[in-house]
Formats: sequence, structure tokens, C-alpha cells
Amino acid sequence: MRALSSFLLLTIVPAAFAVKSQDFKTCAQAAFCRRGRALSARAQESQAWKSPYSVDPSSVAVSPEQASFVAAVKSSLYPNIKFSLDVRVHDDGVVRVRMDEVDGLRKRYDEAASWALTAEPTISPDVKWAVSKKDVRATYGAKNDIEVVVSYDPLTVILYRGGKAQVVLNGRGLLHMEHFRTKATGEEKAPVDAPADDSQVVMQVNNRAWFEGEEEDGFWEEKFGSWTDSKPKGPESLSIDINFPNHGHVYGIPQHATRLDLPTTTGENAHFSDPYRLYNADVFEYLADSPMSLYGSIPFMHAHSAESTVAIFNAVGSETWIDVGHPSATSTETHWISESGILDVFIMPGPTPADVFAQYTRLTGTPALPAHWALAYHQCRWNYISSDDVRDVQRRFDAEDMPVDVFWLDIEYAEEHKYFIWDKKTFPDPVDMMHDVEAIGRKMVVIIDPHLKRTDDYPVYKEAKELGVLVKSPGGENNYEGWCWSGSSAWIDFFNPSSWDWWKSLFITEQGDKWSWTESTVDTYIWNDMNEPSIFNGPEISMPRDNVHHGGWEHRDIHNINGVLLHNLTSQALMSRTDPPRRPFVLTRSFYAGSQRFGAMWTGDNLGTWEHMAVGVKMVLVNNIGGFSFAGSDVGGFFGNPEPEMLVRWYGVGIFSPFFRAHAHIDTKRREPYLLDEPYKSILRSLLRLRYSLLPVWYTAFRETSVTGLPVLRPHWVVFPKDEGGFSLDDQYFLGSSGLLVKPITDKGVTETSIYLPEDQVYYDYYSYEAYRGASKGKNVTVPAALDRVPFLVRGGSIVPTRERPRRSSMLMKRDPFTLRVALDTSGAAAGELYLDDGETFSHRDGKFIWRKFVASKQHKDLRIKSVDLAAQRPGEAVDGVALSNYNGANDFAKDIATVRVERVVVFGLSTKPKSVQVGGKELYWEYTPGVASDTKKQGTASVLVIKDPGVGVSSDWEIAVQV
Ligand code: GLC
Repeated sequence: MRALSSFLLLTIVPAAFAVKSQDFKTCAQAAFCRRGRALSARAQESQAWKSPYSVDPSSVAVSPEQASFVAAVKSSLYPNIKFSLDVRVHDDGVVRVRMDEVDGLRKRYDEAASWALTAEPTISPDVKWAVSKKDVRATYGAKNDIEVVVSYDPLTVILYRGGKAQVVLNGRGLLHMEHFRTKATGEEKAPVDAPADDSQVVMQVNNRAWFEGEEEDGFWEEKFGSWTDSKPKGPESLSIDINFPNHGHVYGIPQHATRLDLPTTTGENAHFSDPYRLYNADVFEYLADSPMSLYGSIPFMHAHSAESTVAIFNAVGSETWIDVGHPSATSTETHWISESGILDVFIMPGPTPADVFAQYTRLTGTPALPAHWALAYHQCRWNYISSDDVRDVQRRFDAEDMPVDVFWLDIEYAEEHKYFIWDKKTFPDPVDMMHDVEAIGRKMVVIIDPHLKRTDDYPVYKEAKELGVLVKSPGGENNYEGWCWSGSSAWIDFFNPSSWDWWKSLFITEQGDKWSWTESTVDTYIWNDMNEPSIFNGPEISMPRDNVHHGGWEHRDIHNINGVLLHNLTSQALMSRTDPPRRPFVLTRSFYAGSQRFGAMWTGDNLGTWEHMAVGVKMVLVNNIGGFSFAGSDVGGFFGNPEPEMLVRWYGVGIFSPFFRAHAHIDTKRREPYLLDEPYKSILRSLLRLRYSLLPVWYTAFRETSVTGLPVLRPHWVVFPKDEGGFSLDDQYFLGSSGLLVKPITDKGVTETSIYLPEDQVYYDYYSYEAYRGASKGKNVTVPAALDRVPFLVRGGSIVPTRERPRRSSMLMKRDPFTLRVALDTSGAAAGELYLDDGETFSHRDGKFIWRKFVASKQHKDLRIKSVDLAAQRPGEAVDGVALSNYNGANDFAKDIATVRVERVVVFGLSTKPKSVQVGGKELYWEYTPGVASDTKKQGTASVLVIKDPGVGVSSDWEIAVQV
């Protein structure tokens, strides 16, 4: 949050929220964006517009295996400036297009991809480039239906599938890589490559004007408010148009507070007048519908139609603006304008959403499988003010029988905001306090921000200074000084490899030769905030762009990548605390492509308004399809004092978010769930318990995303890619592959709501067992939504495993029995999965886990429900990142939970009362309540068969025979 105001107004809660838009640039206030948009406007006006960039045909050099090629590119406006092009197809069909300036006055920043990618992708040996006089082309794909064509003049790159253009680069001729030049003054003002004769200079300058504009707009210096960006490198921006001529919907490019189906920024009825901005920033009281940038940036965009999904990942680390327009309902034009860097675009050919997620996460990594407890409830506020306060909060949760797993400490634990250093006046006994919290498996998360108070009695600052790992001021000589929570501060430059081992060493809990955090425990986890970085007295509340990082790179080159490095290193630090390592948990506010490998994110300082609650759902969905599933918003709203109804609805949102944490600003009233009056308190208790009962579903969904990249929260278009009725839906979504369809309520006074059912299938209300039937063209049904329930349905055809014993923490549920909800589909069948492991270590990578499949199928008129070992069937896909060829069903973990049983099986939609229900010939205890069966079109309460204590283990093979 913006601090200066907070310092002054600690006790005042803002009456009316308003973003300080004057603190942040519009496109018109950012010279390179202005230039990029002006270029686009000129192109639109001119009939004869043609991109000046072309490939030199004589330069095309195909690799010996013909799998990639390089070529020289030139601009007709600057014949002496050289560019290089490198195009390759990876073994999964992803096309990478790189363009850089060659032999320029300086080097362009070309390392963005290396921070995002997990490894250098393998080039496909099967793709053969064919060179002709006008283009280079390659055909590939399982059906040989993908074609990539790189045309020479003008330079365009087009990906076709089945002869239809899917992705077009530079089709509108907006590609522009501003080459490095020397600053000319007064009389000397002539292009570096000026021809000798004056008349030609004039001609060429005019020539350039049609493309670049008449003036050097903001080339060498730029002012914003009281700040001046010295721009020592001059202009170096990069822009490119990327069009999807056959896709009418685009999604992604988090983080913005807006709808999932990205509204337009260009065209007559543009929803926003500014492009979407990616420039990680700490935006105080952000708007609930805006293209303004927020804390993180993932330059990854999906384009979707009923026919196919494709995507692009534009690996750039500098500030980037993206215009989006729809020339027609079935096509999309985008224009990407970046301040610096090389062109490094990955084109993902799809053709299904699942293919795109696989392609994207093969590049940038799948989300790490979190510790199991991290999916439970987190209780935070700014601040729990003392160790006794923490103990008291824990005691009150327990007294009220409300489950909670994690207590958080914000910045006030740290003496003068020197992170790691306890304020002993209020936290005299930190390790004892932590042990008290850890007694029943709970954890603590403590904040560590990246700014260091500049005082030599702070060992972290002193060591960083001595090691020379601080970010430098413009010119690169002196350590940069800025203002943050700790007052005058310095920033660690995590781009400097010398900082890496040192940072990890700080987290060692055992006493060693040098300073480390011995007043901590190995069950203490970390929250990294303010890592955009947020700097209260810096331009746009961040770091001056001309600051200097390791390798001489300017801050502008790496700004959007900055935050991910702290997150990465902190998660590594937590793993290096113990041997063997435990799974880390690190929450970050700032992020970039690849951040999903390191932990969770949240949507920052949201407001306690219904609009923010609603847009938070969309933002978390966008993050999910942006590859970063472990996402959530502050439950309750960071600013403000939500009335009880709003707070209850916010918990309804939270229990269905991957990351579930309540948090509040220091000025707000306490609002822990036990503080509410009835009936709200009891409603919150049952919502918390609902989250805990569904932890097996969440954990199983995280296993899947850790392997396939398919998001944990799935918007309709991901699950039903051909159903146009769902393409713009962003207030309801599916939870993993579980079949749960959720629509959290984000409005006041609601008693019922409409849910869209995308198919001719039966869906059952989780609470009332009411059956709703969809239609093949999609149908809206009305479901109850009283304050004590979050509307959510179980899709016919699913089996949902839950654990329903109320406990105080998730650790206490380790041996609890399971309930299986079997929701029969219209054909009378269902299936579901369950993944379990020890939840804390990496022993699952050695095969210590269970991955079960439950299947209900019809045999003649009878129903068989059985449990099979999915890991044994599909060992290569079982766990995060590790292919197990020798999975053993009798592994130590499976043995450890051998006595954990299924205590109840509930079958919805069985048409007739059974004659018997048996396991291994033994009759079980069961009850059947008739109702509407799954295969009828009637609406009403479903028939329910409850099988009690079938005597089967959750980790063993069994079969229940329901004879009808
Ligand atoms: C920032 C964070 C917020 C935190 C506060 C104090 O505003 O976004 O969550 O409580 O800083 O650390």
C-alpha cells in the first residue's frame, strides 16, 4: 500500500476509495507507448502502409538438421542498421521467434526468457524448413496440418492450421525495433547512417516520418511528476502487432482488475481508452475495472474460438502496453509495445486449451505441488501485535471450534521494520510462540520485504552492502537509496548471483559462523511483499528506471522480472533449511511468467467493496489461466470494515479460491471469524469446515496442475471449449477435474442466483441434492443462494472425495475417514480421483503417495462402484515433474494410511431402490431415499443412496456391488 498516506492516516479508514491515478502513467504519458500508438494510428490512416522490415533472402541460413533458421532483417528506413531473426519449432510444436539488433551501439536486454523458462527447449528434429525466394516455411504436427510461414517482404510470421491463419505477427506492419543511436544535438542532428548528400537526408528523414513520426518524442529524457528519467541509452522500444484472425476472444495477460474475456482498448466502442499495461506497481486503492497495471505481469495471452485455442507468450521484462481490438466478432487484433528488450515471442499452436496449458508450462514450469496445509485457512492481519496476541487469536479459534492452519505476522513484528529482527518489546519469545502455534501442526508465515533499512546495526543490510549486492543509482557507482516501510532503505539486487547463496544462508535456523535467523523455526514460512519493487518516493511508487542492476542493465530492462527473483530465492532458501528439504511456502505480491514454480500470489490491496469482491474472483481466474493457479484475494477486503453480510460472502469466495487467506489493513477493526455475532459466526464456522472437508479435492486438483499445467480453477471455455455460451463467463467456474461448479455470491441481498449449465447433463446441488438438468445448447438454472450457502453443484459423472470430521487444523485430519459423493450422470456412471501423500516433504517424488480412481459404472441394471490404483496405471503422469516408471502401490505412505477408510458413500440419481448393497458378498448398511433420478429430465431432489461404513480402505482396491 502507499505508505506516506498510511504513515499519516494510521487511524483513518478512507471514507471513499479512489485510486491516485496521477501517480501512474497513462499511455500518453509514457513516451514509448505514445510513439507505439502513434505508429499504429498512422498505419490505420494510410492505405499504402507497408512494414519497412524485410528479410534479406540471401542471408537465410537453415541449420544442418533443417530444424531452425536464422536470417538477416533490415529496415528500409535504416539500411545500415542490422537485425537478426531466429525461428525454430520446439518438439511440442511451439514456435519461437527471436529478433535482435546486431552490431548495434549497445546490446539489447535478451535475458527475460532465461528467467521465465525452466530449460532451453528442445528443437523438433521432425520439422524441416523449406526456403524459397519469398519465404521460408515448415509443415508439421501429428496431422501435418500446422504450417509456419515466414515471409520476407514485408517480414511476417504466420501460423496456420488446416490452411486457416491462427496467429499473425506483423500482419499490420507495426513491428518496430528502435535501434540504438547517438544523441545528436543542434546542427549535428542527422541520422547515424545519413547519406552524404543533403537532399537525400531530407528525403530519408521525411521517409522515416511516415513511420516514426516527425519528432524525437521523449527519446533522451522523460519527465513524470517530479521525476526525470535520464534515459542514457536513448530510445530502444519494441512494438509488434499480433493478430488472431480467426479467434474472437482473448484472455490472460494478468494482472488487471477487469473481466476475463478481455474488453477492447481500440475500435469505436472500446471499453477502455488506454491499452492494458504490464508494469508491476503498488497501486493504492486500485480500480475494480481498469487496464492499469497492478503488482504482477504475465505476458501470456490465449486466443479462443469454438474451433481452436492458440496462445502467445511474449518474453519481455520491460514495461509493456497491449492494445486489444476486435475488427469483427470472430477476430482479434493486438498490439504489444515494450520499452526495451529483444523480440522473443513463443507461439503456442494449441489446438485445445489443454494443449496450450501443456505447451506454456513446458516452457515456464508447472505450479509446484504445495504443502497440504498451505491449502487450508490462513489468518492474517496487519498486525497481530505481540506473541500473546497470536496465542490469544489461536485460543479463540480453538474455543470456537473454527479450523485454521496458519497465523501470519505482518511488518510490525520487526524492530523498525528490519525484517528477521524481532521487536522484543512485543515479541519477547518468538521461538516459543512459534512452537505454541506448531503444536497441532499449524504454521506461521512471517513477512520479509526486499527493502533493507540503511543502518549498520542491521546485519542483513551490512552484509549486503559489504558483499556489493545492492541495486545502484543511475551511473552505477553508488548504492541506491529510497524510502519504504523501514524509512531510508536499500534494495538487494537479486540479479547479482553473489546474492543468492548469501540470501539462502540468512534463513538457516541453526547457529553458524555468520548471522542467520536462529530466532525462527523450520516450520516458519515466508511472505514476500513490496517486491515490484514498491518505493514510496520513487516514480510511480517504484524504482527509477535508470537505476543499475548487475551486468549494467538498467532497471527498465528487468522491471517486471524483478519480483520473481526474490520469490524464487526465498523458496530455495526455505528448502535449504532442512535435509531432506521440505516443501516451501512463499507468498508473493509481484510476479512474472514462471512464478508459479515458487509458491502463491494474492491480488494485493483490494477494497472492502462488493465490486472488489467480484473482480477478485475474475482476477484469480485470470491468474489460473495465466499458469499461476495458487492465487487468492484478501478475504474481507484489505481496506475498510465489511458489514457481516459482506464478510460472510467474502468467506464464500475465499473457500473456493486456491489460496485462502483473510487479511486486513492496520486501520481496520478486528474481524476474525469468531468475533461475529450469530448467525454470522456459525455460518463462517460451517464455511471454514466446508473448505476443510474439500481439502482432498483441492489437493488432487493441485496434483493435476503440477503435472499437466491445467489450472486449478477452470473457466467455462477451458472445460467446454466449443460452447460459445460460456466464452465470456467469469463469475462461475469449475474446480479442477472434480466436477464441482462454483458460483460465489458477490452481491448484497442475494437469495438465489442463476447458474449456466453448458451441456445436457444433470448437476446436483451440493447442499440440497436438488437435481438440475442442463441442455445441449446451454441453459441457465436458478439455484438457492441464501447467506449460509455458496451455490455450487456437482456435475453428473463425478465422484467427490471429502473428509467431514470437524477438526482444528488440517494436520489433525491425516487419519480421518473419507466420504465419497457419487453423482451419477445421465447414463448412470461416474468417476473421480484422489491424490494423497505426506503433504510436507518431497517423498512423493520417490513414489510415496496414493493416486486412486473411483469408478461407478452400470452392469446391466446393477451399479458397481470400485476403487483402482491410478498411479499403477499411469505412473509416468503421477507426480509433479517426476516420471515414475517403477511405482509401487505398497509404498511407505500407502502403508502408513492403510487403516484410513471410506466411512460413507453417497450415490445421487440412482433410479431404483437397490435390492442389496454388498462388498465381497457381505451386505452393507444402507438407506435409499427416492427422488428424481439422473436419467430423467425432471427437476427435483435427487434420489439418494447412503452406504454407511462399507469397510473399505481409501488406499486399497475394492468393489461395492449395488444390485437393483
Ligand atoms: C502492503 C501489502 C499488505 C500489507 C502491508 C503492510 O500494503 O499489500 O498486504 O499488509 O503492505 O506490510
